[in-house]
Amino acid sequence: MKMQALPSEKGTFNLTNYEDTNQSFNWKDVEGTFSWAKTGLVNMAYEAIDRHVDNGKADQIALYYSDAKRDESYTFKQLKEQSNKAANVLKSVGVEKGDRVFIFMPRSPELYFAFLGTLKVGAIVGPLFEAFMEGAVRDRLEDSEAKVLVTTPALLERVPVADLPHLETVFIVDDEFTEQGSYLDFNKRLNEASPEFDIEWVDREDGLILHYTSGSTGKPKGVLHVHNAMIQHYQTAKWVLDLKEDDIYWCTADPGWVTGTSYGIFGPWLAGATNVIRGGRFSPHDWYETLERYQVTVWYSAPTAFRMLMSAGDQVVKKYNLSSLRHILSVGEPLNPEVIKWGKNVFNLRIHDTWWMTETGAQMICNYPSMEIRPGSMGKPIPGVEAAIIDDQGNVLPPNRMGNLALKVGWPSMMRAVWNNKPKYDSYFRLEGWYVSGDSAYMDEDGYFWFQGRIDDVIMSAGERVGPFEVESKLVEHPAVAEAGVIGKPDPVRGEIIKAFIALRDGYEVTAELEEEIRLFVKKGLAAHAAPREIEFRAKLPKTRSGKIMRRVLKAWELDLPTGDLSTMED
Ligand code: PRX
Repeated sequence: MKMQALPSEKGTFNLTNYEDTNQSFNWKDVEGTFSWAKTGLVNMAYEAIDRHVDNGKADQIALYYSDAKRDESYTFKQLKEQSNKAANVLKSVGVEKGDRVFIFMPRSPELYFAFLGTLKVGAIVGPLFEAFMEGAVRDRLEDSEAKVLVTTPALLERVPVADLPHLETVFIVDDEFTEQGSYLDFNKRLNEASPEFDIEWVDREDGLILHYTSGSTGKPKGVLHVHNAMIQHYQTAKWVLDLKEDDIYWCTADPGWVTGTSYGIFGPWLAGATNVIRGGRFSPHDWYETLERYQVTVWYSAPTAFRMLMSAGDQVVKKYNLSSLRHILSVGEPLNPEVIKWGKNVFNLRIHDTWWMTETGAQMICNYPSMEIRPGSMGKPIPGVEAAIIDDQGNVLPPNRMGNLALKVGWPSMMRAVWNNKPKYDSYFRLEGWYVSGDSAYMDEDGYFWFQGRIDDVIMSAGERVGPFEVESKLVEHPAVAEAGVIGKPDPVRGEIIKAFIALRDGYEVTAELEEEIRLFVKKGLAAHAAPREIEFRAKLPKTRSGKIMRRVLKAWELDLPTGDLSTMED
């Protein structure tokens, strides 16, 4: 059953008429905004920061940063200078165009200086989520052959430096650090560096960023994006985030995930808005306080966060004056109609769902402020993007038929490679002309898309994408674990939680201590968000004759569903 559509909001929007724009728009129209129109070359960091200094916005606040200890702001001019300094620091240790520079640290202004500095040198930036433990860090630095790492003393403990032959320099961000060997003091060098830097102008198709993300099999894969993605970051920041230059915008995502870069760095700054970054963990009070204090006008977050705010109760939100808010958006998981209803109640605004993936680089299917939204639907493809529901042979299905959510190849921010893994990259494009997303969905008669689920076994827990294979591999490293199968179990707050089915080795007994020990083993070896919240012990797990754990059967057990075709199962 579909919910009744909510009417359009009032106001002047950057995208005033979806249907007309969808008919007439061409990506070429956007290209003139950036320097390659004049010089043939470009650099994301110039377009996002320095360009605004050159266009009379030097003194506008570009970044508000706060956490429990710090409270700072930087104008576009200051951010230009800080990132120039960071670029000089990186260049001084030999970073060159195309090198991989990884940043593994909690949010802080220095993270953003290092990030932008990396781009100014023409290198490829690899942001790592601060919660990653040694195994996860190793996989990523090894695969990308990172040359430089910027980190903190606490996180350095999780970096197996001795096993990483390509890693030449480690910058430590800490006020009390003393340099030794290839461990250098980032802040000291930043302070001493020149604020002038000759930007490395690159081709639109040169590498920009590597985001590692999970699939259903294999290790996490490095999704490579190029500078050309800016066309779509910029245009969606206008149409979808509806940003104007006087907006105060807050994206709650960490830059370790694609939302925290495409829309925590690139989109808002390309559009010339003021960007709010809040460090620290989630807390309803802190979050509402952040919205109130900076008078945030546009806010981008995730269903899990909205559900947690919802469960904190409406008394909390009433303590704050949030009247500056004019536009709210969501990404990462299905946005429940109840959450939209709650948003309408407490903020008197609709929450706009947006759909996209690490691989798409930017928003693809969205709800726009000038458009009627249908709660529960992801909206319609942005102008310039063609989405369709196709069957496994690549035939486009008619409305209201469920199938593969696919995108016509060729949008500006599409990933350009899976690092060191051409077969994996090609597998996304196995149906001629289409990118196959791995999500299932249907489209209604009016062109709205409705998310149904993942076709593979990828788990979305609290907005974070977790590959079951990675968790299973870690689990079987534990001496007590003989076999492990991991699935996503539906959860009212987190969307899904990670549930592990485990068969123990002979000689081990199920105890509460052992269960906790196994959970901690994953937490410490991979990341807290990848540790199973639920563990169920079984004598044996369902496997195919070739020995592959049948997650489909585990899921059926869990949800009390029919197990389907078991012909490939061993006995
Ligand atoms: O299953 C879809 C889900 O998140 C997946 C992509 O995850 P990731 O690459 O980590 O990027 C998340 C943020 C860009 C998709 O394949 N997903 C994303 N947005 C939505 C969604 N599921 C339902 N509704 C959405 N709006």
